[in-house]
Amino acid sequence: MCGIVGYLGKNEKKEILLDGLQELEYRGYDSAGIAVIEGDKLNNFKAIGKLENLREKTKAYHTEGFGISIGHTRWATHGKPTELNAHPHLGAYSYVVHNGIIENYQELKTELQADGVNFLSQTDTETIVHLFEKEHKSSDSVFAAFEKTLSKLDGAYATLLITEADPDTIYFAKHGSPMLVGFNGDDVYFASSDTPIIGKATEVYYLEDGEYGYAKEGVLKLFDANGEKSFTKQALTADKVSAQKEGYRFFMEKEIYEQSSVMGDTMMGRVLDDTINFEELDKDFFENIYAIKICACGTSYHSALASSYLFERIGKMRCDVEIASEFRYKEPFLTEKTLFITISQSGETADTLEALKMAKRAGMRTLSICNVDNSSIVRESDAAILTRAGIEKGVASTKAFATQSMVLWMLALYVGQTKNTISQELIKNEIDAMIHTPKALIVTDKLHEKVHRLSKRYLHGHGFFFIGRDIFFPLALEGALKLKEISYMHAEGYPAGEMKHGPIALADSELFTIALMPKSMHYDKIKSNVEELSARDATICAISPLPFDLADDFIQTNYDSHPMLEYFEMMVVTQLLALEISVRLGNDVDMPRNLAKSVTVE
Ligand code: AGP
Repeated sequence: MCGIVGYLGKNEKKEILLDGLQELEYRGYDSAGIAVIEGDKLNNFKAIGKLENLREKTKAYHTEGFGISIGHTRWATHGKPTELNAHPHLGAYSYVVHNGIIENYQELKTELQADGVNFLSQTDTETIVHLFEKEHKSSDSVFAAFEKTLSKLDGAYATLLITEADPDTIYFAKHGSPMLVGFNGDDVYFASSDTPIIGKATEVYYLEDGEYGYAKEGVLKLFDANGEKSFTKQALTADKVSAQKEGYRFFMEKEIYEQSSVMGDTMMGRVLDDTINFEELDKDFFENIYAIKICACGTSYHSALASSYLFERIGKMRCDVEIASEFRYKEPFLTEKTLFITISQSGETADTLEALKMAKRAGMRTLSICNVDNSSIVRESDAAILTRAGIEKGVASTKAFATQSMVLWMLALYVGQTKNTISQELIKNEIDAMIHTPKALIVTDKLHEKVHRLSKRYLHGHGFFFIGRDIFFPLALEGALKLKEISYMHAEGYPAGEMKHGPIALADSELFTIALMPKSMHYDKIKSNVEELSARDATICAISPLPFDLADDFIQTNYDSHPMLEYFEMMVVTQLLALEISVRLGNDVDMPRNLAKSVTVE
């Protein structure tokens, strides 16, 4: 998601903007820019890639005296990440930054081009600044032109506009994307969330949808559809970390709740009406590829393992998965007709990176699925698909795992589609299910409360089994890892059908079994596996859309028609279970003992 920062006042503006944008990096971006007006001096700078590149570009630039300024980090929706597409967008004498999507931009753009306006970018945002300057020609004030501009925009936006026609005023509007206004004396700040202005502003007003207006030194004029309105400032917290948690107790909790919204970003531009599209892959990327080998560690290994079922079932391509630290030393037999995929949230995991280098030395084509652009693994790969989960701060991975699973599901479908080995009907069915995924990831109060309540019964015992079949076996592994990582209690994931080959000897009332019982995948098989355990007095927590009366605890899920929707919904339950047990045990959920967010050593 994009980020916005604005400042009006006498302090040095460049640093305020760049530091503010730095605080918004977690939202994910691929380019950034700033614009400043000080009297008759207009400056703007843009750079693709990390903010460091923009800092480098503006090293020699310093502002002084009173001025108005805006900044933006862009995550590409319309048009590739280029300097031309980066914000702020320039008209003849005005600048604009914008979050959201202008749904009628194409129609507005066509009208403006017919009036002779020359567009430099492929973005919807550029339409705003040209429309404003067109309206300004026939308006009796800058504000009237700004109002008329807003009245013609359809869609979601948070926007800031500055113009040489009014060099001591910032114009703003909020409709669907977040934005707030900060105050400190006569200085006025704008930002997409509060962390960029913590330590700078002392008071804040959170804009509501439909509100717009302008800020001058020490003055904020606020309007909505009914005209000018008053507003009440509130004290701004000085605690940046708690602000970054945006009201959640832990980053991990916030990231579980974010899964639904970031999944939309992961799918954007890739899941189309009746086809899967990866701009990152050349059309012949899978030519002469007849098998897939995936290498990863930890949670990323689990998403890989789940995808192996999908690559074979949907993609009709052989797929095997290796733990990177094992792969590195097994003297593997590698062929050039196998695509080597690495999966990594950080893109810096040493074992995975070394495995990738081995594959490259063997002449294999390589693809990475990663959450951090320009990371070592991304740079080392022939192609990379970003999961777009945004920065993941919790050491126990959640939204990265969810978005990896989605990218791999899309890729499995893409392989079948590209190789023409599956029907259009299958593609459509899978896409119909994919589109429901953000909804399946929503955390309801009812669910969270239920998991919180039952977690009190799982604070002891001699361990946990998470069991499942097919893609729910890797999900069981992941659920067990989540619990281990943040509760420090022993848990293991196991194929449900394997319990009778030994582990069932452990069954007694102190052995807690978390059974993943999807309706749409081998339900009768998993049911009989769980009944065998229940008959031996194991304590069962069943997660299923179908009531299961032998369970000691039962969490009813909603989706029952597609295995991947059941997978995502059950994933959320296991994440919440680990979270709530860890909280009851008083552990540091975000920074569990002995763990690091990225294991960059062997
Ligand atoms: C996940 O909860 C763990 N923190 C850990 O297993 C992690 O998945 C593993 O270290 C791999 O990291 P990566 O995805 O950044 O490569």
